[in-house]
Amino acid sequence: MSNRTFTMIKPDAMKNGHAGAILDRIIKEGFRVVALKMTKLSEEKAGEFYAIHRERPFFGELVEFMSSGPIIAAILEKENAVSSFRTLIGATNPANADEGTIRKLFATSVGENAVHGSDSDENAAIEGAFFFSGLEQI
Ligand code: CMP
Repeated sequence: MSNRTFTMIKPDAMKNGHAGAILDRIIKEGFRVVALKMTKLSEEKAGEFYAIHRERPFFGELVEFMSSGPIIAAILEKENAVSSFRTLIGATNPANADEGTIRKLFATSVGENAVHGSDSDENAAIEGAFFFSGLEQI
């Protein structure tokens, strides 16, 4: 079990002014920030990041949304990071997210759901490497 996960604060949460509150919550929950940057994905890069969803009906919408504005990307460290972080953010659809979770508090819809969290240790490593070189991870 790896102790790292990868997250993005998505364009909806950035636009709605929730980035500070989300980062504050993540740090208060005991995650150490290993790497962090604000950036904006091109449609091409967003499609590459979410390539696993290419055949899904919502792929076009997902790519358009994820390239619609700035995001914050970060690698986080904590014991059982992937599952611990997924518990903190709540269900993909905020309508199904538990009270107090980041998506319950800050997400708008299943598409515009405030944050991304890796779903496995393997994907956490792939997704972290998509945004950060080894030198950028401290
Ligand atoms: P994320 O955890 O970043 O990984 C894939 C994303 O696809 C997911 O969050 C949602 O934002 C998005 N997604 C999943 N299901 C739907 C859907 N039915 N409609 C639009 N977007 C979706």
